[in-house]
Amino acid sequence: MSLLRIDSSIRTQGSVSREVLDSLERSYADTHDGTGVVRRDLGRDPIPASTWAAAIAAGATPEDERTEEQRAAVAVAGELADELVGATAVVIGSPLYNFGISASLKSWIDILITDPRFAPGTSPLAGRPVVVVASRGGGYGPGTPREGWDHGTGWLVRILGDVWGADVTVVEAELTLAEVVPAMESLRPLAAQKRAEAHEAAEKLGAALVA
Ligand SMILES: Cc1cc2nc3c(=O)[nH]c(=O)nc-3n(C[C@H](O)[C@H](O)[C@H](O)COP(=O)(O)O)c2cc1C
Repeated sequence: MSLLRIDSSIRTQGSVSREVLDSLERSYADTHDGTGVVRRDLGRDPIPASTWAAAIAAGATPEDERTEEQRAAVAVAGELADELVGATAVVIGSPLYNFGISASLKSWIDILITDPRFAPGTSPLAGRPVVVVASRGGGYGPGTPREGWDHGTGWLVRILGDVWGADVTVVEAELTLAEVVPAMESLRPLAAQKRAEAHEAAEKLGAALVA
């Protein structure tokens, strides 16, 4: 069994999605007897956006006429696809930026879809457990002013679950900006509660991935 961990927060300090994934990873490691965790940190080491354009161009170019850049892009797509297909379970940190997912996570998915194994209609992750930790500065629950404004998580679940066939669970950590935004001061207790709940859910999921 192997766990692939994908981080995409641009923060390396104070990142809630990273902390919640740490909880999940710890409980996975505590209950698991051996094989390791493979990590890809798209926040620290994003794949250049030009890789996607080159991989798309390669797809429209006969193999023997491809440029060096196109060949390299196809190789990157193949490496990412190998890594994802080779994982028994996948966990993904997905912060909300400007009401969408991080550019690096979007780029990772776009590049994967250029690999024939991840083309629409292929279900490469059929039945595979995938946990998404969605961290958001504000609140997006039913009845809140920003209900429906998270255009990231739904899209991510659409790709992972409906296009790639994975068995997706979303852990939400909301109101993460309450600690630092004075106007959100009254929401701090609720934010703390939501964060604790996210850690608890992540711990349970980490242990369950083993089973
Ligand atoms: C550039 C940028 C854009 C952001 N846009 C949003 C947003 O549209 N909605 C929101 O609720 N929070 C937004 N946030 C706050 C993040 O979602 C929040 O800090 C979250 O906890 C980030 O994940 P992390 O804690 O794992 O780094 C934004 C933060 C940054 C840095």
